[in-house]
Amino acid sequence: GKIRRFKWEVKYELKSPDCFEKLVITINGQLPGPTIKAQQGDTIIVELKNSFMTENVAVHWHGIRQVGTPWFDGVEGVTQCPILPGEIFTYQFVVDRPGTYMYHSHYGMQRESGLIGMIRVSPPSTEPEPFTYDYDRSLLLTDWYHKGMSEKATGLASIPFKWVGEPQSLMIQGRGRFNCTNNMMTPQRSEAEVCNASHADCSRFVLMVIPGKTYRLRIGSLTSLSALSFQIEGHNLTVVEADGHYVEPFTVRNLFIYSGETYSVLLKADQNPSRNYWITTSIVSRPEKTPPATAVLNYHPNHPRKHPPTPASSNFRPEWNDTRHRLAQSVAIKARKGFAHAPPENSDKVIVLLNTQNKVNGYMRWSVNNVSYQHPTTPYLIALKHNLTNAFDWRFTPPERYDSKSYDIFAVPSNANATMSDGIYRLKFNSTVDVVLQNANTMSVNNSETHPWHLHGHDFWVLGYGEGKFNEMEDPKRYNLVDPIMKNTVAVQPYGWTALRFRADNPGVWAFHCHIESHFFMGMRIVFASGIDRVANLPSSIMGCGQTKRLV
Ligand code: C2O
Ligand code: CU
Repeated sequence: GKIRRFKWEVKYELKSPDCFEKLVITINGQLPGPTIKAQQGDTIIVELKNSFMTENVAVHWHGIRQVGTPWFDGVEGVTQCPILPGEIFTYQFVVDRPGTYMYHSHYGMQRESGLIGMIRVSPPSTEPEPFTYDYDRSLLLTDWYHKGMSEKATGLASIPFKWVGEPQSLMIQGRGRFNCTNNMMTPQRSEAEVCNASHADCSRFVLMVIPGKTYRLRIGSLTSLSALSFQIEGHNLTVVEADGHYVEPFTVRNLFIYSGETYSVLLKADQNPSRNYWITTSIVSRPEKTPPATAVLNYHPNHPRKHPPTPASSNFRPEWNDTRHRLAQSVAIKARKGFAHAPPENSDKVIVLLNTQNKVNGYMRWSVNNVSYQHPTTPYLIALKHNLTNAFDWRFTPPERYDSKSYDIFAVPSNANATMSDGIYRLKFNSTVDVVLQNANTMSVNNSETHPWHLHGHDFWVLGYGEGKFNEMEDPKRYNLVDPIMKNTVAVQPYGWTALRFRADNPGVWAFHCHIESHFFMGMRIVFASGIDRVANLPSSIMGCGQTKRLV
């Protein structure tokens, strides 16, 4: 493979991506950051300069397994020490499979300020893809808040608890449109200074198409909270790839996408070419308080700024709380014939993870089997490899089951208290592990949320979904062991369960968490370690914090 080098400077800039001016993280001045384009087998080298004045950073390559380089997974506290202001850190890893991936900050809740981008990996020229298209385009979807990450994170970690609330805008390729005139301005600043509807930063994203041509749209979501429905007025979307795996093609009007997922869809520019069309995203998992994001599908040679003749709201989308459509899409996805890797028939271990909202010492938290994740100051990978036995609680193994006989997943927890721990799950190298994500009622009556779970370092087979409580005797009989899709991110629906299987065949320490920023920040994550003895010597560039100070 080729070596592809990138030099990135990461910093804060005052920008108005949704017309409202705030601090935004850019990479080389861009939001989203530059798309990494590579071919299978290439080595990516990113020399990253932290030009923040006062903040640390770390960057995760979402969907890249980091086989042989677990120390470059980019998760601060798990695989590396943070990159300090003024420092340069070099990531180097191989992109070993074709597909659509992403990158983003993995330091605190920094991702939502804009340190995001896409990775496109093409297959070797001798292995054609099982579909054809004329052009390849990326659309990164996000939601957007006007408050900065420290303010939101502090609110989440305070008594009384202060929820981040719904996002102010949704964005397509880093562009949104906040309604400046309807919304209150900060009194100290002039309206024009804070919100400017004609600011160039917030002009709508335009996707130009040539009539009759077919476009591969690589759609990724890095929302901090929202699950989205994506649609292009008047056009069908044929789904062909999900999280780097080819899927049996199926056609949708609304593509439902959760934070951490990527899809490729084929779009044929086959509608009336004398006009433009709306591209929209809207929130589906929560009451819709944020207006849809809009971009323009521009049929060449119409003027790109020519508004479609229809209202943007005319794009059909189901009601936000109608989970049936979303579940139907999830269930419809099957591995593409000829490309399916069947899962092992049995697993060596089953872990059932109950997802709950809890209180710990009066603080609002999220937990997994009643344990809320506590972030260590010494990264696990270094602690395990160098035997730093008091860097975290080595003796505590978080529970592999919850008390499913007595726990009522449909009720507000009778005792919402949970414990905090930095203990981790150790998996036998090369063993096959089943994980069942079990959803439950939150601390509010009649409320259960959607959680997209993302596994680092591996892909998993999605064996099945169900409603209500998972039955360990009966439900596995209905697992799809024939053509399940492989993914790295999957949703668990309100009051439902989702079952996954993976091989713990990648030596390292890997985060597994809900991809909603405030949820994982509040403890909704776990960590798997396996095959540490097979991990090569760690580079000293990842060290320097906590107990690793004495190693460098
Ligand atoms: Cu894209 Cu650990 O996340
Ligand atoms: Cu969540």
